[in-house]
Amino acid sequence: MRCKWWLTLSWVLLGLCFFSACAQQQTPVKSETQQWWQDAVFYEIYPRSFADSNNDGVGDLNGIASKLDYLKDLGVDAIWITPCFPSPQVDFGYDVSDYENIDPMYGTLADFDHLAAEAGKRNIHIILDFVVNHTSDQHPWFLDSKSSRTSQHRDWYIWRDGKGPGQPPNNWTSTFGGSAWKFDPTTNQYYYHYFYAAQPDLNWRNPAVQDAMFDVTRWWYKRGVSGFRLDAVDTLFEDPNLTDNPVIPGQKNAYGDPVEKNVYNTKLPEVHDVLRGLRQVADQYHAVLIGETWTHDIAELNRYYGQGNNELQLPMDFLFTTVNKLSPAEFRKQIAAVNSAAGWPTFVISNHDIVRSYDRYGDGVHNDEIAKLMAGLYLTLRGTPILYYGEEIGMKTTPPTRKDEVQDPIGRTGWPKEKGRDGERTPMQWDDSVNAGFSKAKPWLPVPPTYKTHNVADELKDPNSVLSFYKTVLKLRHTNPALSDGNYVPLNENDDDVLSYLRIYNDQAVLVALNTSGAQQQVKFDFSKNGFSSATPLATTGKSSAQGQVVTLDPFGVFIGQLAK
Ligand code: NOJ
Repeated sequence: MRCKWWLTLSWVLLGLCFFSACAQQQTPVKSETQQWWQDAVFYEIYPRSFADSNNDGVGDLNGIASKLDYLKDLGVDAIWITPCFPSPQVDFGYDVSDYENIDPMYGTLADFDHLAAEAGKRNIHIILDFVVNHTSDQHPWFLDSKSSRTSQHRDWYIWRDGKGPGQPPNNWTSTFGGSAWKFDPTTNQYYYHYFYAAQPDLNWRNPAVQDAMFDVTRWWYKRGVSGFRLDAVDTLFEDPNLTDNPVIPGQKNAYGDPVEKNVYNTKLPEVHDVLRGLRQVADQYHAVLIGETWTHDIAELNRYYGQGNNELQLPMDFLFTTVNKLSPAEFRKQIAAVNSAAGWPTFVISNHDIVRSYDRYGDGVHNDEIAKLMAGLYLTLRGTPILYYGEEIGMKTTPPTRKDEVQDPIGRTGWPKEKGRDGERTPMQWDDSVNAGFSKAKPWLPVPPTYKTHNVADELKDPNSVLSFYKTVLKLRHTNPALSDGNYVPLNENDDDVLSYLRIYNDQAVLVALNTSGAQQQVKFDFSKNGFSSATPLATTGKSSAQGQVVTLDPFGVFIGQLAK
């Protein structure tokens, strides 16, 4: 009898837990408990290409400062500036020779302070790019390290004997082509570089390296920085036994190297100790850590959030960028996966290393409509969006057409299979004047011809432009709690053409319906299942509209609407 009583009680308790779990799913995170970076819209700036204040053909910090009003008006809350520290610029700043200064090409520390002060006045946070895996080969640490086997910084990098004369220590290849080992005749040893030879890997197993790098973050936090995007975190550690990586037989990459599985030189568990350490420092300054994390699945993504969320707040979900076609099913799968992850989602559709979204999704005919469609997607999801500069005006990837035009070294090594990343790094298109208003001097990369049709000045005047749509959606995101904090609830999951979902926050709901096809679509919804009725438009493209629970969408059309209770 007693046993039965306990059994019944257990079932009741189990039931209660189940209902409270459901209720929890329905109860969105309260806005007051959101951290600043959860409600913020981030904007990535490639400083060489954003705005050139001193007319030398390369963008700079004062150029960025001069565009803060534009960014505020667009709806940006935080700017991530790719590396602007002193650097020989072999990898355009991702080869740092001094972590605590500004490259003269971009300005001075005083210019940085001015930028930080001006950004602060507009409530715009500054995020810097912290190149954690490697330094430049011109960094004083490396110059000392290579000077002798007994130098103070020798063990700050990874030095090893070759296997034999002319033979590197193992088979690891650099992701930028060739062996990952470079022989240095001064000390007759090889050093390891996952990227270019001019980017030697730091030895993170050395506590002195950890201390020095953690101090760098403190130095910038004290100067007003609100966080870091951590470069190449996957590659921080290597197997100390230097075990050869498995090679996929019969395959060569764009550089003619064997294709390896990077089992022994990427994603080693020790990475997480470092991330926890960096996070402890970040927490003291209410800062955010964004990770360049190339994950294969959600389990890997979860590891970057850390147990109890003690590592990265925003590991970038690049899996989303691998959905390279307008496929509702694929997007649904990816969004659901990220929503089930252990931390707050981050959505990215382009950056300085990948072909712009305009070209990845565009069909060549409706590209502007498709650019708005993509904005309607990644800016209305539950999570923090990171916009890459120029996406908001529909900038196009414009790769070099000849090898001698290439600036990005990987484009020269890999030509013609790998043309490099110049195409997605071209100057921002401000207006239709000479050099698109970016600079009075010849820009470091050619301005794409599309600056005549796609530029900030003209698009600000056109209510149907890509830019106007970005502004409308971002304004909604900042003013409508369902869009910033609401739950994601997928709808009509068998529809192959229209991707639709609700964002629900308490008694408010917003419908997002995105037509990924080139034909007009009419979609019937049953909002009553979710406790709502008809939709009224908040932001639409073309003639997309709603009548009660039926939404009609233009080809590639967007309908974002408020649902009535
Ligand atoms: C990732 C950066 O995004 C890329 O531009 C750079 O070349 C590598 N890391 C090396 O730092």
